[in-house]
Amino acid sequence: MAHQVLARVSHIRALPRTTGPLSRVRADFHRTGVKFKHIFTLGSLQLGGKPATSPVRGHINAALRVDSFSTTATAKAFWRSSQAKGSSSPRANRGWLGKLALGAALGVSTVALVQSLHTGVITAMALKINLDSAQGDWKETKEFLLSLSVKDRRPYYRTSSSVPLDEIPVWAPTAGGSEPSSYQRNEKLDQKISVYTGDITMLEIDAIVNAANKTLLGGGGVDGAIHRAAGPILKQECASLHGCETGEAKITCGYGLPAKYVIHTVGPIAHEGVGEEERRALRSCYKNSLQTATENAARSVAFPCISTGIYGYPSEQAVHEVLATVREYLDAHHDKLDRVIFCVFLPKDKELYLQNLPLYYPAEATIKSKL
Ligand code: APR
Repeated sequence: MAHQVLARVSHIRALPRTTGPLSRVRADFHRTGVKFKHIFTLGSLQLGGKPATSPVRGHINAALRVDSFSTTATAKAFWRSSQAKGSSSPRANRGWLGKLALGAALGVSTVALVQSLHTGVITAMALKINLDSAQGDWKETKEFLLSLSVKDRRPYYRTSSSVPLDEIPVWAPTAGGSEPSSYQRNEKLDQKISVYTGDITMLEIDAIVNAANKTLLGGGGVDGAIHRAAGPILKQECASLHGCETGEAKITCGYGLPAKYVIHTVGPIAHEGVGEEERRALRSCYKNSLQTATENAARSVAFPCISTGIYGYPSEQAVHEVLATVREYLDAHHDKLDRVIFCVFLPKDKELYLQNLPLYYPAEATIKSKL
């Protein structure tokens, strides 16, 4: 058995260093600070922190005694620390080295071994991820999380539940709205708008927009909810953005949120009333957030009612600026977005959006007379 393992492993080592799957794996290991240098010896690595008690573990330990196969002490450190401290990742309990060794012991193909190595890289990273702590390296954490599929990212959500896009109903215009619309009907915008009542932090979509303040370091309202759900590492990335001006938008990873990204924008403060400056700033928030989303290939975006809470912008005025801005952006860029979701939190906002949407997304060609 050990002979077979050695044969397989020497085959892997013989793979050309510059091309082929192993170079990718080497590159992956390198990227995560893991280099091909370490030599395992029999029993030096007890899988799962326990001595081999069963024949399978015995196999694995035996398979680990390969003098020429290598990875770095770092991986071993990851492994030991995760076994000792327990990582937030549920993956920590499954030994990627065990899989690999078992594969080697059972003589699976080299490609499968390399793939298993590759999985090992992902799992090695997973061993380090702890979204409950501010200690992690936000760049490494962001790169790792953004490399995962939606399904693979789910174990990292810090919210009690999540709402996938296909469970968010599409709003459809109904014929005979209350007032004639000043917009042409545009069939290309059908199926692209939703009004969702609830907590924006639950939405499992490409990007949620945060009604932030200029520091980007968190606050109350939806800003506080987003930072709480994302976890403390979000603030680290936000701090690296050095603030945000009113009307501007900046993007970060979603971290512990079901949303892949958070787009932070700063709405106008309208405690002294709404003038042209406040109207223009609010429109910029929505336009720049959509622009930032499409620049990052985020195709589903949810907005809270920006500025209508602590910043005091009257909801019944804000709704018109919002619907007009999003309509104009979608007319020009409908191919880059699958869904824009107006995430309302208060019953009055839900009513306002449903009442005014037909004015901006008419069911049929009903143009207001220009007279
Ligand atoms: N999900 C969706 N919408 C929410 C949520 C939530 N979890 N929590 C609050 N809202 C709604 C509010 O009901 C309001 O309609 O978001 C809208 C925006 O309200 P605020 O969060 O107060 O935002 P804003 O008015 O833009 O004020 C921004 O408040 O939280 C601070 O740091 C933030 O200083 C900034 C200011």
